[in-house]
Amino acid sequence: MNDSEKSPHCGLFLYIRRGDAQDCFTENFTTVLSDDKLGAIIRQMEKVIKSYGGKTEGIMSITEQIKQIKDDKNAIILAHYYVADEVQEVADYIGDSYYLSKVAKGTDADIIVFCGVSFMGESAAILNPGKKVLMPDAQADCAMAHMADLEKIAKMREKYEDLAVVCYINSTAEMKTYSDVCVTSANAVKIVKNLPNQNIYFIPDGNLGRYVAEQVPEKNIILNDGYCPIHAAMTRKSVLEAKKRHPKAKFLVHPECTKEVLAEADYIGSTSGIIEFATKDAGEEFIIGTETGVFHELKKRNPGKKFYTLTENQTCRDMKLVTLEKVLDVLKNETNQVTVTDKLRERALVPLNRMLELAK
Ligand code: 13P
Ligand code: SF4
Repeated sequence: MNDSEKSPHCGLFLYIRRGDAQDCFTENFTTVLSDDKLGAIIRQMEKVIKSYGGKTEGIMSITEQIKQIKDDKNAIILAHYYVADEVQEVADYIGDSYYLSKVAKGTDADIIVFCGVSFMGESAAILNPGKKVLMPDAQADCAMAHMADLEKIAKMREKYEDLAVVCYINSTAEMKTYSDVCVTSANAVKIVKNLPNQNIYFIPDGNLGRYVAEQVPEKNIILNDGYCPIHAAMTRKSVLEAKKRHPKAKFLVHPECTKEVLAEADYIGSTSGIIEFATKDAGEEFIIGTETGVFHELKKRNPGKKFYTLTENQTCRDMKLVTLEKVLDVLKNETNQVTVTDKLRERALVPLNRMLELAK
């Protein structure tokens, strides 16, 4: 219902009679209620119902229940820009992988609900071991996180004495233990540039690795053949067709895309980089070469601007496994906790902490 359809004189009335006892609760209002005000009223009604031994489940909206349990348990919700719009809306912090790992490390909350894929929750649990990290969907994973060969890393180390293994954060905790430093798309160029090593083995993403190699030509960067299925499926042909459809639009793209697609870009950067560019730029139309979840923040920050996809198929299925119902469920029952063995944690913490240090 939109605002104009709402009656200007509304009210809530609750009357309870049980045995000899009776109680009533009324609330009248003449303006459209904010979500917070409505939530407060519903919570008051809920107290009355409970005092008579009634059940109140289903009265509060899922969002209201999430907010209440979050407060009761000192929990926070972190959400990546790729998760569904309504999940981003209940989050305390929304951002790219780099930002979210900094938040996870620094939080005082007892529980972190990580709305994203498994490498994100795993990194949070490694960076802040005292906290309970919960994943709304334990199956939500990143295909690319598994695309490196540990034997190949060992061979590279034998071949190059001064090798640095640079590991994109989209990787398993085990892969991180074989690495010297982690990076995200927001800080990879800066970190690789400043490493003392001449020879770099970049895992697992070959596309991000190639992009970094172009920005840091003074180093020998050896590429791996991992890729993100969603970004790698975006083609130059689809870019050219989108540009034909929207001739005034600038093309903003994530570095996980192929070389041919990046060659057509007006801007290349992480999810938050893309959002910031579109927000600051004077242009009014943009073609977006990354997962569709970013459209929520793009439109929120830029209501007057237009954003277009490249193709119909720009969705990360795993990110979309996270739903409001699952967020509520893990908050209530504290299930799907991320666990990492002490040995794995100690070793994977080194490259993650080094990233946070070098990216400053
Ligand atoms: P960002 O670090 O840019 O948010 O990207 C994460 C990711 O999974 C890209 O596919
Ligand atoms: Fe992984 Fe690609 Fe999904 Fe990002 S969009 S989480 S890289 S599969």
